[in-house]
Amino acid sequence: MVSGMRTLIVTGAAGFIGSALCRYLRANNLARVIGIDKMTYASSREALAVLGNDPQFKLIEADICNGQAMMDVFSSLRPDGVIHLAAETHVDRSIDSPGEFLQTNTIGTFVLLEVMRYYNSTLSQDLKLSFRFLHVSTDEVYGSLGPSGSFTETTAYAPNSPYAASKANADHLVRAWHKTYGLPAIISNCSNNYGPFQFPEKLIPLSIIKALNGQKIPVYGKGLNVRDWLYVDDHAEALYLIFDRGRLGEKYNVGGASERRNMDLIQELCVILDEALPKSPTLPHLQLLEFVSDRPGHDERYAMDFNKLKSELGWSPRTTLKDGLKKTVAWYLENQTWCEDIRSRKYGGERLGQLQAGKSS
Ligand SMILES: NC(=O)c1ccc[n+]([C@@H]2O[C@H](COP(=O)([O-])OP(=O)(O)OC[C@H]3O[C@@H](n4cnc5c(N)ncnc54)[C@H](O)[C@@H]3O)[C@@H](O)[C@H]2O)c1
Repeated sequence: MVSGMRTLIVTGAAGFIGSALCRYLRANNLARVIGIDKMTYASSREALAVLGNDPQFKLIEADICNGQAMMDVFSSLRPDGVIHLAAETHVDRSIDSPGEFLQTNTIGTFVLLEVMRYYNSTLSQDLKLSFRFLHVSTDEVYGSLGPSGSFTETTAYAPNSPYAASKANADHLVRAWHKTYGLPAIISNCSNNYGPFQFPEKLIPLSIIKALNGQKIPVYGKGLNVRDWLYVDDHAEALYLIFDRGRLGEKYNVGGASERRNMDLIQELCVILDEALPKSPTLPHLQLLEFVSDRPGHDERYAMDFNKLKSELGWSPRTTLKDGLKKTVAWYLENQTWCEDIRSRKYGGERLGQLQAGKSS
């Protein structure tokens, strides 16, 4: 270990955002990184391959719900801080199997909080003062907006999906552990991310892969739901900034300042695909768009007010949606074997999260 450099635990390190954060932390030599990941279907070792020979990075395969395993990691590796991203994250899967979401997102966070509460009590006064915990959450905890306005850090929680509820539960636990036990914690709530290595069940990679295969691109309902899109590397930068310099006990919203209706987003994506694939047999790709039945409880609109993060810590997204989508399309075109492997072994692109009478997890 390089002396003076902090050791950080990143949970969910092999996931979409966690791996981008690990790559960012190591590319900028900001910390020695210990990744923890259960390696669920959503994880990707390839997303961490670039760190394979980095002596300052280590990946531990473990479940955050396993208190003993977490205790062993903390007591042997003595981290200076934790950025917590491990979660079940796909809303449609939370409709099919809510129990797994409660288990990892809520109970897993509780286990981590208890382990950190104990670990923190063993630290010297100096280390206690410098230890920090960043809990990474979502805008979905705030529920749904009408046509105007945006979520601020003081917007009341109103989660509508089992995913959002399990994350809201975790946010409340983190707040309580800070207020009651003085755990040095911060919460960040972010809007929809996109970029390389996102598991192709999520809207943007699913649409790209469907288009590449000449298949229908499903758009829920009338495609009028609005999301605020943030390029994943910009989120990684925000996360480290909040972890490093955010005020303890505070919440920070992170947003992309890029609101789009789903159908408009798909349209922009299809134009980029048309340019990237001039010989495609399915030009224009927009002809593949197909409206399908809506997601139960589908939130109408999310929009983030991230002025607090901007004014206190000077962060704004760097990547425009157009540039981010171009980079993302280029990445998926160059990494079709990664996509094919997922398609053949893990997820073939079928519809998830439709209510079936009498089915429960
Ligand atoms: N993707 C987004 O748009 C978005 C937006 C805002 C907030 N977030 C939050 O950011 C975090 C990361 O999201 P993502 O999109 O990278 O998710 P992801 O699904 O791509 O990755 C999640 C990772 O967590 C791991 N994991 C799951 N259960 C675990 C457990 N019990 N123990 C250890 N590891 C476990 C998985 O193996 C996977 O590698 C989540 O907490 C999510 O709620 C995501």
